[in-house]
Amino acid sequence: MSSLKSKHMLGLDGVTREEISLILKTAEAMKEIFTRKVKKVPTLTGKTVVNLFYEPSTRTRASFELAGKMLSANMMNLSSSSSSVVKGESLIDTGKTLEAMGADIIIMRHSAQGSCKLLSQHVKASIINAGDGNHEHPTQALLDMFTIKEKKGQIEGLTVLIVGDILHSRVARSNIFGLLTMGAKVRVVGPATLIPVEYKKLGVEVFYTLEDALQGADVVNILRIQRERQKKGMFPSIREFHRFYGMNERIIPYLKDDVLILHPGPMNQGVEIDPIIALDDRAVIEEQVTNGVATRMALFYLLAGRGNQNEDLN
Ligand code: CP
Repeated sequence: MSSLKSKHMLGLDGVTREEISLILKTAEAMKEIFTRKVKKVPTLTGKTVVNLFYEPSTRTRASFELAGKMLSANMMNLSSSSSSVVKGESLIDTGKTLEAMGADIIIMRHSAQGSCKLLSQHVKASIINAGDGNHEHPTQALLDMFTIKEKKGQIEGLTVLIVGDILHSRVARSNIFGLLTMGAKVRVVGPATLIPVEYKKLGVEVFYTLEDALQGADVVNILRIQRERQKKGMFPSIREFHRFYGMNERIIPYLKDDVLILHPGPMNQGVEIDPIIALDDRAVIEEQVTNGVATRMALFYLLAGRGNQNEDLN
């Protein structure tokens, strides 16, 4: 396989193993560009890429911008607070306006589930989902899988534990779809109120005790408590959550010697993760950020850069 089936990346639900493998393999080549003296290739020359963010972001937005610039795209950044959205312009009208300016790729983050799919039905540009409500965040899961493969040499057969606020997490959903497709065993752990029951039907192992869930886990992916999406009463208090589900000094004896510790960021230190874990030699949180640029470059290349094939990566 040398191309993706869809011109959009709306989520990993339904994306095949071959497609994910292609993205991860392409990201390896993209990461090599980082080691060059001149970190720029002409793959997206003449293409226009728009970052359209209706929710805050540091990592995703900045890494898409850097990825686009390294591939020589014209990059535009729009946020809801500084655009005509504040004057009442709809999402579809905003998309059509960007299309009229020649946008080839629109990367969108929005609080509403399904908003990226909606936009993809109204504009000709490729849409990349940078997080839609608690639905999916596919590029985060791709960079997480890239990091796992880079560090462990494979994804198939590994036991990957996702810890914390599973219910509100688009990162968890995309990771679950992607990891199961790639042949990993997936576990989740958290308070019962923060674990959707339907994940069991997908083949995910559900735990409610962190110490039990950590036994034999090759990878631990720690999620942020999404206070902005929480309804009251999902768990007694932050202090209680930290005591039972926080990755802190207490759980160190339960970690495998070669465990890989991930966190998508931003971290709430002292809540879901303590500095002693974030700074552990087995944590690769900063490398995830670097890999985010390579993975997003790969996606740009596969969605829009193939036309410039002769100039690729040279
Ligand atoms: N992981 C992630 O999506 O981070 P940002 O919110 O900073 O983009």
